[in-house]
Amino acid sequence: MERMALAAVEQALRAPSVHNTQPWRWRIDDDRVELFADPDRHLVATDPGARDLVLSCGAALHHLLVALAAQGVDAQVDRLPDPDDVTHLATVTFRSGAGPAADATLAPQIPLRRTDRRRMSHRPVPADLLQELAEHARGAGAVLFPTHRGDLRARLAAALADAARQQQEAPGYITELTVWTHRYAGARDGIAPGNLAASSVGAPLDAPSPLRAFPQGRLAQPGPPLGHGLADDAAELVVVATPADDVLDRLRAGEATSAVLLAATRAGLSTTPLSQGMEVDATREAIRLDILPMAESPQLILRLGWPATGAPTLPTTPRRPLSAVLLPAMRRHP
Ligand SMILES: Cc1cc2nc3c(=O)[nH]c(=O)nc-3n(C[C@H](O)[C@H](O)[C@H](O)COP(=O)(O)O)c2cc1C
Repeated sequence: MERMALAAVEQALRAPSVHNTQPWRWRIDDDRVELFADPDRHLVATDPGARDLVLSCGAALHHLLVALAAQGVDAQVDRLPDPDDVTHLATVTFRSGAGPAADATLAPQIPLRRTDRRRMSHRPVPADLLQELAEHARGAGAVLFPTHRGDLRARLAAALADAARQQQEAPGYITELTVWTHRYAGARDGIAPGNLAASSVGAPLDAPSPLRAFPQGRLAQPGPPLGHGLADDAAELVVVATPADDVLDRLRAGEATSAVLLAATRAGLSTTPLSQGMEVDATREAIRLDILPMAESPQLILRLGWPATGAPTLPTTPRRPLSAVLLPAMRRHP
């Protein structure tokens, strides 16, 4: 069983995380895997409420459950099992008869999924595919709101531009951005220039990009089709939201994010998680009030679109090895 657990945690490490901080620690025991948040990897200036940190761990939890299901392991999940330890986010116990805890068919997408920050295609994402992705989010305890109707997209773009302006002035924000995009040689975390676009994307030329402004990278932008600007595309922006906004909701939102990203990858879509609008209280509140139709709590924005014609496969991003994230086991049985 331990070999299966190790293999599944190894898959979970491929989950997306804010700035590729990989803010998790794991413990493997006889019949269980425990997931802990790693507060030492918290981006205090970028993510003061630790929302991104918990979402990242939620995505890793869902990757773990998919990997276990693909190995035929039945599992029961206890979220936030220890009221005395807020960093203990989940315990997954192997229990035959409990059934698979996630959709095993998503497992082949784990090594294929990438965060794509380039211009996408002008081919629209069909409504029924967005509906299918919303079902994946719902299955993991969250909802997915599209923003293409009416003036929602314009309001969302305004909130994102506002968040970007405010973060430029926030003490420590630029330092964290610099630290996590300029790792030392051989580092196995952070974002490398090969995954950052050389120019901005995702908006008409006269509007600000909805994407986070990273230091300029080396990733070439695919050329636009005739009649289109270099920067605009038909990518959808969808909002992942939950009924409330406590730690459990954030964990669930991370799980739903993983489910949507893996299902989108299977459908051939490129994907970009965008958290800037949620990191600034005022813009998150604006998104909640002006964009969501119900009293839901927004957690993350996902950009989803077809890859541009001829766009090459993105390089894989690094991950720390298992040995760096495993806590010592606490054997329960002699
Ligand atoms: C909670 C969360 C927030 C993120 N926010 C952003 C963001 O604002 N902009 C961005 O380009 N990528 C964002 N990402 C993507 C990460 O940077 C990415 O997952 C990480 O660099 C690893 O790369 P990979 O997804 O290609 O494996 C976010 C990911 C998560 C899970």
